[in-house]
Formats: sequence, structure tokens, C-alpha cells
Amino acid sequence: MNRRELIRNIAAGTVTMFVVPAAFTSCEDDLVDPDDNNDPPDDNILTIDLSDDKYSNLASAGGFVKEGDLIIINTGDGFIALSNICTHQGCSVSYSSEDNNLPCPCHGSVFSTTGSVLEGPAENPLRKYELSQEGDILTITL
Ligand code: FES
Repeated sequence: MNRRELIRNIAAGTVTMFVVPAAFTSCEDDLVDPDDNNDPPDDNILTIDLSDDKYSNLASAGGFVKEGDLIIINTGDGFIALSNICTHQGCSVSYSSEDNNLPCPCHGSVFSTTGSVLEGPAENPLRKYELSQEGDILTITL
């Protein structure tokens, strides 16, 4: 290798060391951070539109609907939302308007409308969710 070739190789190496990484770096700058300007949907809120036929059971006292793992009840004094998953072994509880409680069909546990255990074998309460109403819209904070 003569002197001219040596200088050319050093120059090429310098270009490779500084220009090529800069090109990759500039590509990284073009990437969009998914957290920037991209507010995630608020998964902690469930809204129920009482004017929707899907929720017509809530129109009268004693009516209830199940929405996912929730049971929403019109107690006659207002609306409440509880987990419908029995804390004993996970069966789906229902609502008895006659007794104003939530019996579990599997092993006989009964819960109050506050979620507390009235009869076992369940030992832990149902989770009760914060619910507010504005017109026909129920907002449940999960
Ligand atoms: S799963 Fe509800 S009482 Fe057992």
C-alpha cells in the first residue's frame, strides 16, 4: 500500500466511523414515541346509556344487567355496580329484587347490595364500584 492508498483508506474509515452511525441515529429521531400525543383511552371508566335498549332492564326498580364482570342494579333507590364474580369460587352472582341481595347459584353464598357477605361459604365481599348518574348516563369508575 502506497501513501496515497493509505490516506484514501483512512479517509474512507473516517467516513464510515462518523457518517454511517449518524445516518442510523437520524432514523431513530424519526421514530414516533407511541406515548407522545397519543393519550390512551380511559379504560377505567364504563358508561351505560340508559336510553339504549340494551339496558332496558335497568328502567325499573329491581332490574339489573351484567356487563362483563359487573352487575349493575336498579335498586329502586338508585343504581349500584358490583363485581358479579363470586369471591368463593368465581361463579356469576345474580340479583334478587325480592330479597334485595345477590345470591350465588353455585354454593349458596349471598351478598348484600354493599357487597358484604351475608351467607358463606364466600368469606370476602364483592367489589363495589363508584357510580354516578347524569341524565341517562351512568358512569362507573373501574
Ligand atoms: S362460587 Fe359462589 S358460593 Fe361458591
